[in-house]
Amino acid sequence: MNNFEFKNPTKIIFGKDTIEKLSQEVPQDAKVLMLYGGGSIKKNGIYEQVKNALTDVEVVEFGGIPANPEYEILLEALQVIKEENITYLLAVGGGSVIDGTKFLSSAALYEGDTPWDILVNKIRTEKGMPFGTVLTLPATGSEMNSGAVITREETKEKLGMGGPGLFPQFSILDPQVITSIPQRQLANGLTDAFTHVLEQYMTYPVGGLLQDRFAESILQTLIEVAPKVVEDPSNYEAASNFMWSCTLALNGLIQQGVPGDWAVHMMGHELTALFGIDHARTLAVVTPSHYKYNFEAKKEKLAQYAERVWNITEGSQEGKAYAAIEKTEAFFHQLGIGTKLSDYTSDYKGTAEKIAKRFTDRGWDGIGEKQALTPKDAEKIVKMTY
Ligand code: NZQ
Ligand code: ZN
Repeated sequence: MNNFEFKNPTKIIFGKDTIEKLSQEVPQDAKVLMLYGGGSIKKNGIYEQVKNALTDVEVVEFGGIPANPEYEILLEALQVIKEENITYLLAVGGGSVIDGTKFLSSAALYEGDTPWDILVNKIRTEKGMPFGTVLTLPATGSEMNSGAVITREETKEKLGMGGPGLFPQFSILDPQVITSIPQRQLANGLTDAFTHVLEQYMTYPVGGLLQDRFAESILQTLIEVAPKVVEDPSNYEAASNFMWSCTLALNGLIQQGVPGDWAVHMMGHELTALFGIDHARTLAVVTPSHYKYNFEAKKEKLAQYAERVWNITEGSQEGKAYAAIEKTEAFFHQLGIGTKLSDYTSDYKGTAEKIAKRFTDRGWDGIGEKQALTPKDAEKIVKMTY
């Protein structure tokens, strides 16, 4: 196992009817900016629950943060933070609203002229404006990590940021919020969380026995609850296991002491930036091709995954490893998620070259668990997804 240091300060408040506990978490003397998305919270009752919990606190609202949070819109929110002398942020939404809030937490205290520099220059946020979250969509794990991904439509870029100052102070996870989530977003959430585990597991063995079993148990739980959640989002047992699995998939725990790949996400973000494809769907597109292309380097873990997660016990190591890739792809298909770029756009010609060039321009000469995947490799992988 590799050395590690681990600190995750986010308080999780999990369970039925927990949104009312907001009143105990938000400081009474704060001036709060409540941030939300396109309006789903006004239809499913979450907005009322939040407002009722905050009657004794001064709250300003900013709605309209879109999926793949857009820089230009976040700048409008930043203006509100400054004009209204906001002291505390509250994200009520999925990964996009929470990520947008993390950007604002950083930008509010940033002293440079152009907050986009935080992303371009990879500035680590040591201290941000304090914030909490009410999670409405299990998927990204953003509710218990310190990362964010921000989109800029003008330049068709999607870049990551983070730092120890960007952990939410608290996150409220009420699995009942799942009842109003559309099928498409449920499938996305399951796929995103599943891929988060794979990114931290499907590398090479380093003797992280417990981390492997943590990872495998999250994958098994997601596989078990996926059909139940999709069939009946009001099934509380399935919903609560789904929600907690998504959080644990990306709160840092399973990443400790083991290598991480994350190349699937890096290529996937480019597909969202270029075509607007939902984040999770880009991962389903890249994953099978990435594993086939890097088969030799990943076959030991692929075979272990085959045996322990998919119960494939017959055959050679390579046979099992290959069957596991097929099982993974079938799992995405079962959720109604296409695994080819051509399932989403007919305009894919030249995409692979474009992505390779972007990686080269950014100096991303070697990505993946061994920093050995070159822009040329990425180009070949993306071509395999057409
Ligand atoms: O905007 P509203 O109207 O609220 O509707 C949203 C949105 O259209 C809807 N929704 C959310 N909760 C709902 C609901 N509809 C009905 N009932 C509810 N309870 O769902 C749609 C998608 O929401 P979004 O927040 O975009 O989804 P998700 O949570 O999948 O977040 C995706 C974003 O997170 C980033 C992605 O790149 C993408 O930008 N990620 C963040 C990560 C992180 N911070 O750690 C890691 C991930 O790998 C990912 O990159
Ligand atoms: Zn993801």
